[in-house]
Amino acid sequence: MSAESAPLAIGIAGLGYWGPNLARNFAAIPGCEIAWLCDRDPDAVARAAALHPGARTTADLDALLSDPALDAVVLATPVPTHAPLAVRVLEAGKHCFVEKPLATAAADAELALRAAQRAGRTLMVGHLLEYHPGVRALKELSDAGELGDRIYYVYGNRLNLGRLRADENALWSLGAHDVSVLLLLAGEEPVEAVAHGASYVRPGVQDVVFCFLRFPSGLTAHLHLSWLDPHKERRFTVVGSRRMATFDDMALERKLTVYDKGFDEDARTYGEYITGSGGSFSPRIANIEPLRVECEEFVESIRAGRAPRSDGSSGLRVVRVLERLQASLDAERGDGVAPRQRNGAPVGG
Ligand SMILES: NC(=O)c1ccc[n+]([C@@H]2O[C@H](COP(=O)([O-])OP(=O)(O)OC[C@H]3O[C@@H](n4cnc5c(N)ncnc54)[C@H](O)[C@@H]3O)[C@@H](O)[C@H]2O)c1
Repeated sequence: MSAESAPLAIGIAGLGYWGPNLARNFAAIPGCEIAWLCDRDPDAVARAAALHPGARTTADLDALLSDPALDAVVLATPVPTHAPLAVRVLEAGKHCFVEKPLATAAADAELALRAAQRAGRTLMVGHLLEYHPGVRALKELSDAGELGDRIYYVYGNRLNLGRLRADENALWSLGAHDVSVLLLLAGEEPVEAVAHGASYVRPGVQDVVFCFLRFPSGLTAHLHLSWLDPHKERRFTVVGSRRMATFDDMALERKLTVYDKGFDEDARTYGEYITGSGGSFSPRIANIEPLRVECEEFVESIRAGRAPRSDGSSGLRVVRVLERLQASLDAERGDGVAPRQRNGAPVGG
């Protein structure tokens, strides 16, 4: 961007399922223009170009990188391409928004981070839930001590969502969201991260994963991630020492509910605790599209020369945790079918 008032010229690379949503939101931000649309698939480019007729189009990212008038590139390409493409974008001197997760390995995420530091450019990772007004409200309640002086445990259910992907399992595709929220709430990295999973539909790609994490403060967490479930859930429950709260993204209205159900010491007994049975309340949550908030954060952080909320470092922390959970998955059999159950008959005697 040459001047404060000049429009921020943005190029979108990757125009499959998600990229067009990013293009729509960036195009709606005052002072932003979609200057380039890029995808290897000419049909995807043509569909996006019909909605953004002012943008130039290409199949080759290099066309964006060599345009001196382009300020920033938004990457919505497949996950394995994220870190290498982000490095190229940053080395070309452009700001970079990259979809989640930042990389498939912590070492690659670090390369992207270093490229951003060397270039003095913004690197932001699209951890969408961190921009959800309901998650922000949950974080504010938690930080203000409204749930108690300690968070005991958290569990997340992300079930029956999205498409089965060939290059990502449920941990990386669904869990990237929950791990980012978990790290946001915890404010620390786990000392223990264990996962179990199974691949029922596509060999080697876990479609159901159960994670357990333990943090230095004593906080524990459980994540249930699955593409194979009769229930459609996107829910997060936080159990504090005084209150409990649930963020339910499937709820149309009461997305966040706080329960007055801490444990009280019963003064009539010796050291026994009783469960409080107070009421519940649902704070009003602003009805704003989280993707719009996320896109605005990218633009505002570039303009202000400050780090965005979900910057490269926080993206790296998420990848570090996912990598540990994946190592745990790799250490087990993984296809969910014990040998004696195959074909309904015992195998190998
Ligand atoms: N935040 C969210 O809630 C959310 C939701 C869906 C997807 N995503 C993320 O968005 C990204 C894309 O997912 P999708 O579902 O749109 O995938 P997709 O497969 O539908 O689209 C990816 C597109 O990238 C293009 N592409 C691949 N390599 C390219 C390259 N080098 N240069 C230009 N184009 C290239 C492909 O042709 C394809 O059109 C993934 O990282 C995914 O995790 C995020």
